[in-house]
Amino acid sequence: MKDTNKLIIANWKMNPQTKKEAEVIFNKISIIVKSQKRVEVVVCPPHPFLFIKDKIKNIKLHLGGQDVFFEKEGSYTGEVSTSMLKNFGVEYIIVGHSERRAQGDSNQTINKKILATIKASINPIFCIGEQKRDNNGFYLSFIKEQIHSGLYGVTKSQMGKIVIAYEPVWAIGSNAIREATPVEFMEMKIFIKKIIADMYDIKIANDIRIIYGGSVNPLNASSFLKEGEADGLLVGRDSLNSKKFGSIISLAATL
Ligand code: PGA
Repeated sequence: MKDTNKLIIANWKMNPQTKKEAEVIFNKISIIVKSQKRVEVVVCPPHPFLFIKDKIKNIKLHLGGQDVFFEKEGSYTGEVSTSMLKNFGVEYIIVGHSERRAQGDSNQTINKKILATIKASINPIFCIGEQKRDNNGFYLSFIKEQIHSGLYGVTKSQMGKIVIAYEPVWAIGSNAIREATPVEFMEMKIFIKKIIADMYDIKIANDIRIIYGGSVNPLNASSFLKEGEADGLLVGRDSLNSKKFGSIISLAATL
């Protein structure tokens, strides 16, 4: 059964710079989440700040990792394993974010990370998205390839763990060319579901959660959730501002 609560994810990226600040933002978000019922909130801090959840007894606020390595353990300087993240209570891991892809993560690497994440019983937030759009629809083949390679070897029964985050690269961050529209998201959601239905079946395509990310803010959040029918949102910059992120959470909880 599909979870109908909206999934709101904070991707803090390489912010904030101190553990004190991280604790403050996390505490404020946890207070907001406490009073909301129909919404699932995940915070993905930088790895050194994963301890913040230990201090709060709020089971409603979930913890996520921003990336992971696919090997179990060993000589991999700078990497973290699924077990380490799980040990901190991580339930979701962002895999294939465009900023990781820009650092060299290939579709094959992302696939290995997705498989390792599922194996650890953690939910991958599988990010896909084109660099730019073109009038011939080449970007659609690009998206299709990302999905096919990323989910290679993922079985039907494992698909329930996957969340797909559609994040057009041109709409992400302070250098975004422009915001995406809810209609653009909706069209892409249909396209993604068609690919999943062809790879698996209609039920899996129906049930999979497809969320939107890229310059989400309190002003555009509800249009992506309502008109765009997004199952949730992946929020970058505005997730570091507890007021703004709080209003996105409250909006999502009323839908
Ligand atoms: P942004 O980042 O909200 O700052 O555009 C989104 C993301 O990269 O996940």
